[in-house]
Amino acid sequence: MPRDRLIIFDTTLRDGEQSPGASMTKEEKIRIAKQLERLRVDVIEAGFAAASPGDFEAIRAIAATVRESTICSLSRANDRDIARAAEALAPAARKRIHTFIATSPLHMQMKLRMEPAQVLEQARLAVRFARQHTDDIEFSPEDGSRSEEDFLCRVLETVIAEGATTINFPDTVGYAVPELFGETIRRLRERIPNSDRAVWSVHCHNDLGLAVANSLAGVMIGGARQVECTINGLGERAGNTALEEVVMALRTRAGYFNLECGIDASQIVPASKMVSQITGFPVQPNKAVVGANAFAHASGIHQDGILKARETYEIMRAEDVGWTANKIVLGKLSGRNAFKQRLQELGIELESEADVNAAFARFKELADRKAEIFDEDIMALVSAEEREEGEHYRFVSLAQRSETGELPHARVVFSVDGREHACEGTGDGPVDAIVNAIESQAQSGAELVLFSINAISTGTQSQGEVTMRLSQAGRIVNGVGSDPDIVVASAKAYLAGLNKLHSKERVNPQTERG
Ligand code: KIV
Ligand code: ZN
Repeated sequence: MPRDRLIIFDTTLRDGEQSPGASMTKEEKIRIAKQLERLRVDVIEAGFAAASPGDFEAIRAIAATVRESTICSLSRANDRDIARAAEALAPAARKRIHTFIATSPLHMQMKLRMEPAQVLEQARLAVRFARQHTDDIEFSPEDGSRSEEDFLCRVLETVIAEGATTINFPDTVGYAVPELFGETIRRLRERIPNSDRAVWSVHCHNDLGLAVANSLAGVMIGGARQVECTINGLGERAGNTALEEVVMALRTRAGYFNLECGIDASQIVPASKMVSQITGFPVQPNKAVVGANAFAHASGIHQDGILKARETYEIMRAEDVGWTANKIVLGKLSGRNAFKQRLQELGIELESEADVNAAFARFKELADRKAEIFDEDIMALVSAEEREEGEHYRFVSLAQRSETGELPHARVVFSVDGREHACEGTGDGPVDAIVNAIESQAQSGAELVLFSINAISTGTQSQGEVTMRLSQAGRIVNGVGSDPDIVVASAKAYLAGLNKLHSKERVNPQTERG
């Protein structure tokens, strides 16, 4: 029997970006979109065009660059958002407009302050208007899993009649449990007379740790044939369905699922590392498929078994999902051509020869301080180059002194719109001293709410990658900085956070009234 196909819809660049601090620049989004294309996802939700001019430009650039995947923009159910989405998607080879409106009693009353009849009418008009721009229309009844079934039937039948081609059923707040979620979708499909004119989709959040289980139940019990997911499960609050887990469940238990998807699994780990590095959300070591321990067999018993026959304790092969041994790829003596070739092998396409030269200069600087350069180092330096382009605050140099019994002291030099400032500070520890020094000049008043440091590769020579999450007047951003000196990495991360706070604020599609 021919296998059904499961459509993989990635929303790392939209729902993923809605997680606190995960905002990305246009260049970063383009880089991730290209990686998603290499991963062969069917649909890339590239953003929410009406959120800000920056979001609009990023979607437009992705639509002009990516040729293999369908490019989608989210829009609330109003003409302005939809027109903006259509404009951003204009250059796409294949485009989709994803429009949504909340349908649960709670959201309709408290957030939208609308009567159900008004919501139904707005959904109808939104899909009708979107159809004027493309015939690939997705509709989501937000907070679907807490909506009344009779009302859902009316809304969904109406939008399908208006031309919605995908019906996405969201568990917006991660409230669902697998069997009930799957059954609801099955019943909706049975009760709605024109349900077979649309592809059914699931979009689950992970508040109870059930996002992947709910999505798979939506597929197996409910008959959904599209799963919305993100790399590393990034997303609002506890995140979304993790793409890598869905894909590898499908592959590993193919006999049960009997579904095909077009994903090139060998691109999963590179995608995971890229998203983690760009957003500053480290991947927990015990995370399925992409965590550092996912294929590390630490216990003696397991190691013995693995050596005799790997299947004893391994259900997937690390290399199939793109894990490779940490390779020393380049060093101090490597030339520009070798560097450029490695960039190409890593799928990093820099826009111009000037960009390659700038990245190569950075590489040489790093190679002077660090004998072995790994792929991860190259990815980090390209990210840094992109991050720092045209930035308001820019790191220049740092002197820091710590000694047992003495108050740590830091002198930081950084530029503000090209003008250099030197500032000094002391603190409880070296990082505190750096932040105090920078704040004595920047005076942002930002609060540091999270600090994490990870080794980019292995060994004591590894670069440290620091993430600093800053909060200022309710806005949260993640700053990322990397350097062989972790104190310098911390200063860079703090300045990167200040740069993000300095950039324009965006609208969150789900908390603003449409
Ligand atoms: O979680 C949600 O309901 C969403 C919708 C916009 C699909 O992200
Ligand atoms: Zn969502």
